[in-house]
Amino acid sequence: MKKYTPYIKPYLFFFIVGPIMMLTEVFGEVWIPRLMSMIINNGVANHDIAYILRIGLLMLGACLIMICGGVLGGYFSVRSAVGFTGDLRRDLFAKVQTFSFADLDDFSTGSLVTRLTNDLQQIQMMVMMTLRMALRSPGMLVGGLIMAMALNRELAMILLIVIPLLAFSIFLIMKTAYPRFSRMQTALDALNNGIQETLTNVRVVKSFVREEHEEEKFTKLNGDLKQRTLDAMNTVILTMPVMTFFMNITAVAVVWFGGNRIIAGRMQVGDLTAFITYVTQILMSLMMLSMVILGSARSMASFKRVSEVMDFVPDLDDVDAKQKDRKVEWGSIEFQDVSFAYPAADRIQDDETTSGAAPLPGAGFAPGSAVNRNVLEHISFKIEPGETVGILGATGCGKTSLVQLIPRLYDVTAGRVLVDGVDVRDYSLYHLREGVGMVLQYNTLFSGTISENLRWGNEDASDEDVVRYAEYAQADSFVSAFKEGYDKMIEQGGTNVSGGQKQRLCIARALLKRPKILILDDSTSAVDTATERRINEAFATELKETTKLIIAQRIGSVKDADRIIVMDDGHIVDIGNHEELIRRCSEYQEIYYSQVERNEVAV
Ligand SMILES: Nc1ncnc2c1ncn2[C@@H]1O[C@H](COP(=O)(O)OP(=O)(O)OP(=O)(O)O)[C@@H](O)[C@H]1O
Ligand SMILES: [Mg+2]
Repeated sequence: MKKYTPYIKPYLFFFIVGPIMMLTEVFGEVWIPRLMSMIINNGVANHDIAYILRIGLLMLGACLIMICGGVLGGYFSVRSAVGFTGDLRRDLFAKVQTFSFADLDDFSTGSLVTRLTNDLQQIQMMVMMTLRMALRSPGMLVGGLIMAMALNRELAMILLIVIPLLAFSIFLIMKTAYPRFSRMQTALDALNNGIQETLTNVRVVKSFVREEHEEEKFTKLNGDLKQRTLDAMNTVILTMPVMTFFMNITAVAVVWFGGNRIIAGRMQVGDLTAFITYVTQILMSLMMLSMVILGSARSMASFKRVSEVMDFVPDLDDVDAKQKDRKVEWGSIEFQDVSFAYPAADRIQDDETTSGAAPLPGAGFAPGSAVNRNVLEHISFKIEPGETVGILGATGCGKTSLVQLIPRLYDVTAGRVLVDGVDVRDYSLYHLREGVGMVLQYNTLFSGTISENLRWGNEDASDEDVVRYAEYAQADSFVSAFKEGYDKMIEQGGTNVSGGQKQRLCIARALLKRPKILILDDSTSAVDTATERRINEAFATELKETTKLIIAQRIGSVKDADRIIVMDDGHIVDIGNHEELIRRCSEYQEIYYSQVERNEVAV
């Protein structure tokens, strides 16, 4: 809980004054039945209009105080709860931004979205309700009891029997409800995951005519959520009838015993009316209290899920970096006996494992146990500044995994990666990634204009630079052809440009960063060979000093590189230029001739 104090501090005044204000409501509600009984006992019985008016005015006054207190108390509670969660949401979002690739492999996007929206909403409701009810309900309970005892001690004995009975019933209901709410939340998580995946890939779904399958999947998730919500709600709706039952039983008992006392002349009618009101208040406040307790218990699950993100230690940071101020200056790269395995995904636990419910597909994350196998083994090579190096190899052989180690998207498992002779772990992440520009294999554009997208790499880039680098990436020609030019709006995910256009914009975006090392991970796969050649030519003449690492499937894309790294199943098979490799490397020959046969490479 300590970590939440900074979020309470700015609203401390509201946090304290809110509940206190709510106490004025207690004062009013406890006092008014008493005044009422005085009117009945003294005013009505003696036909004393002046007395009725006087006490009536007092009642009005009490009401006004109640209203003021209630409104202010409500306002303060809302103010503090909304402020508290707003700040928490801001920091939670910032925290997610610090997550490494490996961390993001662990938390599913759907689960993060639920945590940032629904769970925080749940917490906000809870804080608001607690602030309003924390003092009010116990206040009403104690106040009502005292007043009832003062009115008639014997009659109050009935309460001593009813209250424990009611409390026990409510306890049973809550005990059943809590785990059900937990399971409901997990089902919601799974649903969010499903929606997120289907909607972001709706185009793929359509092109495979898989709408029906997706609907089935969704219906299953939706059905699960529906069922679990029903399970939870079915127990909670019991509360009200149970409550009414106890209330009416008590009322009958009170009227029975009280009526006898009135007939015997040992009690006044007004006192009985007041007594019944107090009994109702006491039982109601007991119910409210249990609602607050259930609400808190429910939001505890949300708190736990939010805390999981808050407390998560990103797998990769630069706290221990020895040369934080160092920038990448030249762009040499060296791998020294590097091995790498993807981190085993068993670092976070989802509710499913603790609540004992059956796991749902896509519910956040399934805890793994085994350590992943190495996808790279004993990799060593050196690249000089300004060199152009191609990387070639069968799909799944570890090309992407290899280059991701350079800007530290993942950390090596063994060995070292050096940039400019310095271990990448000794740079600050900021400087390292400023120096290493990478066009990811599955890249994306954001909603905004083309020029905004390109300036992502460098906000202060001049218009001339934007055009110049777009020219190198062979993007200028098609951008200029758009009516709006560089002001053309790109839709979310870059869906309104072609695959090849998107790739070229992504390259231009990386170039604008003016990195010392440029990594292209299969970034021209959707670009035609002629355009690709022009991109490579522009790189060769205009980006002489930049070290270029180009992963490609087509030999033609890397044929002219200074050297080519040939990979197979996590190992380096050979390194050399095209002529050397064609002479001595059988794997290279195999790829080459298979592509020549398909006319993909000019012989
Ligand atoms: N995030 C990940 N978590 C766990 N394993 C992964 C992850 N990404 C890739 N792998 C595994 O690592 C191995 C190497 O994958 P990698 O993406 O490096 O191949 P690649 O050579 O880039 O293939 P492609 O040419 O298809 O892009 C594969 O066996 C893959 O299943
Ligand atoms: Mg790849």
